[in-house]
Amino acid sequence: MRGTLITFEGIDGSGKSTALAGVARMVAEGKLAVAGRRFLFTAEPTKGEEGRILRERLRAPAAVGGPGGRRAGQMEELFLFMADHARHLAETVIPALEVGMVVVSDRYSDSRAAYQGATLRGVVPTPMERVRELHRPWSVVPDRTILFSINPTMAVERCLSRGEAGPSAPRGPEKFEREEFLREVAENFETLARLEPRRFVVIDAGRPMAEVLAETAEALAGVLEDG
Ligand code: TYD
Repeated sequence: MRGTLITFEGIDGSGKSTALAGVARMVAEGKLAVAGRRFLFTAEPTKGEEGRILRERLRAPAAVGGPGGRRAGQMEELFLFMADHARHLAETVIPALEVGMVVVSDRYSDSRAAYQGATLRGVVPTPMERVRELHRPWSVVPDRTILFSINPTMAVERCLSRGEAGPSAPRGPEKFEREEFLREVAENFETLARLEPRRFVVIDAGRPMAEVLAETAEALAGVLEDG
């Protein structure tokens, strides 16, 4: 495929979406123009059918009780995210790559590996590896993934100060639980970055947004000049 796929990843409160909005603004202002390349900004979960169901579920308190129920609930969530990804690829990502666009996705397959890798711990063995295996035969691997790395305590503070619902699981309002969950997700992201050091660019997102944005733009310019 002729296009370039760039994904932004990180835990809730990492500043990833703010950096992405900054990049979109730079593109609109012509500050990140690369030889006539057109950009498409997209996200997972998508605004499609599965994405809508997922957002509803993620907002609701844990609906399924008991160990068996939890297990089924987490598996259902995984496959909803996978279905959303399949539709995203077929309807949005692949067509744009085929016409040579630069596709920038706010979350993509690594969110599944990191988040469902955490929610499925104790449900299936080596969940992160299983989730990666599920993608491997058919998904499109990003050309570059920018990981916004941040201390989970700081990320939770940011989420709370914005009044956000927070991560998908566990859904309890307890700050400690949320922080512990995000710590595990963050560790999963770091593991993914270590496994594929050439694909990942890790940005220290605990710094002021202007610095984070400058480094993000630099990473993007780097991959676009390479390609
Ligand atoms: P997020 O990008 O934060 O959506 P919004 O724009 O609505 O804030 O994603 C919502 C949550 O879903 C977030 O906590 C991460 C989680 N998530 C997964 O658990 N697995 C996935 O595969 C994806 C894409 C997201």
